[in-house]
Amino acid sequence: MLYIIDTANIEKISYCVSTFPIAGVTTNPTIISREKADFFALIKGIRDIIGKERMFHIQLTGDTADKMLREAEILRGVVGDNLYVKIPISEEGLKATMALHKDGYHVTETAIFTQQQALMAAMAGADFVAPYVNRLDNIVSDGVNVVAEIVELFTRYRLSSRVLAASFKTAEQVHKISMVGGHAVTVSPEILSTLIYHPLTMYAVDDFKADWESVYGKATICDMADPQKSGTEGE
Ligand code: E4P
Repeated sequence: MLYIIDTANIEKISYCVSTFPIAGVTTNPTIISREKADFFALIKGIRDIIGKERMFHIQLTGDTADKMLREAEILRGVVGDNLYVKIPISEEGLKATMALHKDGYHVTETAIFTQQQALMAAMAGADFVAPYVNRLDNIVSDGVNVVAEIVELFTRYRLSSRVLAASFKTAEQVHKISMVGGHAVTVSPEILSTLIYHPLTMYAVDDFKADWESVYGKATICDMADPQKSGTEGE
């Protein structure tokens, strides 16, 4: 499963790409607007940090297929390869998806709330569909089940589209998506950290440290390999 970060904050992206196995960045107009920055300077900055090899999902703002095609062209000129244009599903959005797919663009159909929206987007050529798990849970629907059924549909019809589950508030939601075969998740940097946190891990590491220091003091393996350089062995 691919882990993607759902933020446009330069500092957070920089920290996450150097710390976690991140496949890319997703943004939407809300996420971009939180940064209160020049749009083009911001997306160029993000591209510089994540490199060309990671996916960069940027949402279009046009409300007609023609405007979306023009926006996609502009964005490709600015961020280059590995751009995934995010398009909220709609009739104009599907029209744009088909045209962009034909022109070799990557498309992520977003704001997906139903299995049939996802299937339609996949048939139009979307590379990813992004169902909103937490927003579904919030209306007493079942976000994980919607994702599970979309995965099942894509498998049953041998579609190459993948599910990029989005809108998470808990690590448990992310875990459940991995258990139903979601291909990718986009999460906040905070959820990313929560996914690897466990107090027992911290206790274990504290115990290892105490046992080591009871015999070797503060010396590390590097210190012991070259005691003259560090001079801390056995302290
Ligand atoms: C993906 O990029 C979605 O736009 C995003 O995950 C939505 O998350 P929210 O429901 O927390 O706004």
